[in-house]
This record gives sequence, structure tokens and C-alpha cells, in this order.
Amino acid sequence: MRKLLIGTLLATGLTAGYAVTTQAAGESVEVLHWWTSGGEAAALNVLKKKLESQGITWKDMPVAGGGGEQAMAALRARVTAGDPPTAVQALGFDITDWAKQGVVGDLDSVAGKEGWDKVIPAALQKFAKFDGKWIAAPVNVHSTNWIWINKKALDAAGGKAPETWDELIAVLDKMKANGIIPIVGGGNAWNAATMFDSMVLSLGTDFYQKSLIDLDPEALGSDKMVEAFTRLSKLRSYVDDNFSGREWNLDSAMVIDGKAGMQIMGDWAKGEFVNAGKKPGEDFVCIRFPGTQGAVTFNSDMFMMFKVGKDKQAAQLQMASDIEDPAFQSSFNVVKGSAPARTDVPDTAFDACGKKAIKDLAEANEKGTLLGSMSQGYASPAAIKNAMYDVITREYNGDLDPKAAAEALVDAVAAAQ
Ligand code: GAL
Repeated sequence: MRKLLIGTLLATGLTAGYAVTTQAAGESVEVLHWWTSGGEAAALNVLKKKLESQGITWKDMPVAGGGGEQAMAALRARVTAGDPPTAVQALGFDITDWAKQGVVGDLDSVAGKEGWDKVIPAALQKFAKFDGKWIAAPVNVHSTNWIWINKKALDAAGGKAPETWDELIAVLDKMKANGIIPIVGGGNAWNAATMFDSMVLSLGTDFYQKSLIDLDPEALGSDKMVEAFTRLSKLRSYVDDNFSGREWNLDSAMVIDGKAGMQIMGDWAKGEFVNAGKKPGEDFVCIRFPGTQGAVTFNSDMFMMFKVGKDKQAAQLQMASDIEDPAFQSSFNVVKGSAPARTDVPDTAFDACGKKAIKDLAEANEKGTLLGSMSQGYASPAAIKNAMYDVITREYNGDLDPKAAAEALVDAVAAAQ
């Protein structure tokens, strides 16, 4: 009984967070986000339920679109009108850009009391803090260098998950011969750019660092970059003709149904598989993109907090505290497909792909191969990212050949700086 009672108290946050909880009850949080797919909505619901159990009202402001470009545009309108939401899902350099405008809140009171400095990796703190102050609560770590493969389709294609580029092409050829769409993706600029992260990373972590993060013109225009684009368009040749405009989660649905063999996508795709009742090892297989095992191109979803009126501040701080609650980090990320943002959350509740995500992340963090994802805004500010998106889309759609694309990338990045 005593155990049960303590368990209940812990689950509802009525122990450590008691003071904040009582203050926050009756307040509301307005949350701007782009988690509108089945798996994403299921994960968001875990957060919503937690806040509601504390008497906090959830006002939902969804703005669809992977990567959050549309969400950031909607946010701009709200900030300009002097009426920002309480919390906003945001990524990497976008967070720093908003902080520079002087409109974000201050989470130091909660972060200090709860010791966030010790449990959140430095790579994330770089974006969750500004001028030494916590301004955002990291909820997870996703990464983009994954392939999600339909298990039956892989079995029919020989059963061995590809470990090299050549093996990948051999599997795609077999899937094609078996009469399915071998691979889906690239339906919009963000989606193609997400695939491109892996093309560059598969040619070396140094190359990824020099080109996409350091923006070294030599690396951007190098033969290796030509090779990265050549790989991208090779993959495009296996994608069906109806790809254009198709959202990433519809691509996932095609892999789930077995219409398509595989998808290169961040592990939010796993959220779709899990939401459809699919299991790793039985229904689908998760692998790092061939040649990238040991490195991780990461992005962390953070809830960036805005300056709000007194009537919302307790709920805002409570939301930040809830997000960093270790038990919440586990239950949320199991559904979302991501790894926890905290390093001290056990992997017990995670499936095989989740356990791999957590292990890969720790290893990359240790080895110095944890690299910000270009496609998700963790390698460079939006202006440069968008300039890259533009060149990648043109190449993916056949408007530029790989050599011309590498040259265009050098010019586009220079112009955007
Ligand atoms: C990413 C975000 C993920 C996922 C994805 C697709 O930018 O970090 O959490 O939601 O977009 O919407």
C-alpha cells in the first residue's frame, strides 16, 4: 500500500514538484508544435496528459510541416503581434535566433534546482541555453542517419540488412525485381535534405564536419560532395514517380504496408511504425545508413519558452520541469521514436531500435562523432540551411547534375552567409 502510494505520488509529480504544481493548477499553456502525424500526436499526448493531470489546461496550436519552417513562420506572426505562445517546439539554430530577439523566457530557477547542467549533454546545452541561461527544455534526441526497412520485403530480397553502399544498391535492385517500390522519400525539400545528411555522413565524419558544419568552400565543392549528390540521385532512381509532395509519414505508411521496401528518415519514422502496432525485428528493421555506424547526425526537439504574463509563468515552469522528469522522458520517447535528452534515463522500457538509438548516441557523444543534423537545423542557421535545401531539391529533381550541384552549393552557402 505504502509502495503504491509513493508510486502514485511520483507518477503525478506531487513530491518534488509539489510547490510548483499547486501554483500552476488552474493556469494554461499554449503550445505551438508540428507534431501532427499519428506517431507524433501519440507522443505529444503523453505530455498533454501529464500537464492535465496537474490541473493545467493545454491549448494546442499545431502547425504541420517537418522541420518546423511553417511553425516558425506562425510563431513570427504571434511574436510580432506581441502575443507569443507559452512554449514552442523548436530546433537548434532557430532557438538561438529567437533568443537573440530578446523574446524568450528564463528557465534557470527550475534548471538550477533540478540540476539540468549535469544530465543534459553539452551538445544540447549549446542550443538550450543562451548567454548562460536555460531558455528551452530539451525533450529528446532524434537522429537522421537511419534506414527503416520492411522486414518481409528485406527477407524476400535475401534477408541481409545492407552494411555498405554496394550492398544497399544490391538490396534495392532485388526489391525492384520483386515488384515493389524499393525506396520512398524526398517529396519536399526538407525530406530530401534529411536523406542528404546520410549521403554526406557516409563519406566520413570529417567530411560532414568540414562541409555541412564548418562550411568550408573546398569541402562543399569537393569530389566527395559530387559523390554525395551522385548517391542521392542514384537513390532517387529507385523512388516511385508519385513521390513529389508526399509527406514523410505517408512514405512511412508505404513501408509499413509493404508497398515500399525502405525509407531513409529520422527516428520519428519509428513512431509511425510503433503507432501502427509494428515491432522491430518482426515487422521492420532499423539500421544506420551504410557507412555511418558509430556516428550520429542528431537533432533535439526542445520546448523553447517565451516571455509570458504572470498568470502563465507557474504553468510554464511546471511544463519545463515535467519535460525533464526522467520517468516522463522514458514514456514520451518510447512513443516518439527518439532517445531521451537526459543521459541518466534507463533504456529498459525501449524497444530494440530505441536501445540502439540510446547506445549509439552515448558512443558518438564519447567519440566526438555526435554531429548536428544539417537538415534539422543543427548544423547552421536557417538562411544557410535553406540555401542548401534549395540546391539539394534541384539536384534530387534532376534540374542539376551532381557536379553542377556541388558548385551551386558553394555559391549558395557563400551568398547566404
Ligand atoms: C523534426 C522533428 C521531429 C519530427 C520531424 C517530422 O524536425 O525534430 O520530432 O517531428 O520533424 O515532423
